[in-house]
Amino acid sequence: MSTARSHWSTRFAFILAAVGSAVGLGNLWKFPYMAGANGGGAFVLIYLLCIAAVGVPIFIAELYIGQKGQKNAVASFEATHEKNTPWRCIGFMGLASAFIILSFYSVVGGWILDFSFKSIFNQFAGKSDEEDKGFLGALFESPWTQVGWHFVFMTGTVGIVLGGVRNGIEKWNKILMPTLFALLGVLFIYSFTLSGFSQSISFLFSPDTSKLTAAGVLEAVGHSFFTLSLGMGAIITYGSYLKKKEGLAKIAITVAFLDTLVALIAGVVIFSVVFTHGMEPGGGPTLLFQTLPVLFSKMTGGYILAVAFFLLVAFAAFSSSVSLLEVAVAYWVETKKKDRVRTTLLIGIVIFGIGVLSALSTNVLSDVKIFKFTFFDLFDKLTSSIFLPLGGVLISLFYGWVLGPKAIEESLSLGKKPSLMKIGLLWTTRVLAPVAVMIVLVKGVMDF
Ligand code: PHE
Repeated sequence: MSTARSHWSTRFAFILAAVGSAVGLGNLWKFPYMAGANGGGAFVLIYLLCIAAVGVPIFIAELYIGQKGQKNAVASFEATHEKNTPWRCIGFMGLASAFIILSFYSVVGGWILDFSFKSIFNQFAGKSDEEDKGFLGALFESPWTQVGWHFVFMTGTVGIVLGGVRNGIEKWNKILMPTLFALLGVLFIYSFTLSGFSQSISFLFSPDTSKLTAAGVLEAVGHSFFTLSLGMGAIITYGSYLKKKEGLAKIAITVAFLDTLVALIAGVVIFSVVFTHGMEPGGGPTLLFQTLPVLFSKMTGGYILAVAFFLLVAFAAFSSSVSLLEVAVAYWVETKKKDRVRTTLLIGIVIFGIGVLSALSTNVLSDVKIFKFTFFDLFDKLTSSIFLPLGGVLISLFYGWVLGPKAIEESLSLGKKPSLMKIGLLWTTRVLAPVAVMIVLVKGVMDF
């Protein structure tokens, strides 16, 4: 077995993969419903601030740790600092997050596959609004269908990761990402023609701070981690396949920009539909699955757009799920010297098993509550509100204080001269980001 590490073939291939990891269900499913439930514009504003002030600096920190360490999410802390450093616990927590997030992510990925399938077989057409809205409920009630699609989604994810970094992840992202952007572009242009378009724009972009609650602010901070794949080692792992000497700030800004763009466009498209049909923006997690079938069933060309849209979301979900799985695979293959194929299959089976708990949360296990949450909600809350923010704080502190000014100089490739950007990044990672995120964390823990 070879232990030589592969690398992305080009910087562009890396950016595609990183965007692939970042853009996912977080952008297309979670962001719109969170914005909808938190009153729109004010939530979006806080979210944008978080991406810029907390997300980008921590993204740079993770890229740096991975690229400099050239190892998996645990060993990179040792490689950049010292053997057996306690900071490597961040990596272990990241591994736990990878298992938990992927387990419920795959269940939602399964819903998307189910809806893709329904759209291909034209099942939304010719139905009443109530019938179209009812598809998700019917899926929720059927344990076998949900577990079945969850299995298909995990199989797809495992299949891509089995190919390795270059022949699996990179190759697939080169196909999936441009297709996704093209499809989203088409839907965006289409949304201009809807009567709810302007209302959608004002809902998302004119902040009404009176609608914002403390919980909403904290949700926005937590979501900025989830959407950029931060706080659990995915970006460290992807960064470790990056050759040394790449300017990291530009990469981080590009990925954050594209990720945000996708979320905002998805929001505009979804709320255009919502307002065109007089629906409720605060529909919660079912928003995407209830609004869009209604829209597609009414539109000319709705069949094609429905197929395009659900495939788009499926692509985005796969390109994110592979980055979650790779965190765990890279660790076991490198640190424990295990065979890549066997490890990938084994981890895939374990994650599938954990995910079954989430797939059953809407039916057989719906009455099983832990800290008043179903398994599905517990896994989502535990990772988004606790593990990712905690991981983010620790990574930020490790980068700002332990690796310090030298790391910042190398990340920005600005040479030795003092500059505002260096000072800004140093104090953001040392103080600003950790303090802001700690507030989220405290709230997250209090919610349990
Ligand atoms: N960023 C992904 C999304 O928005 C989810 C994700 C989280 C992926 C953490 C990897 C790591 O859907």
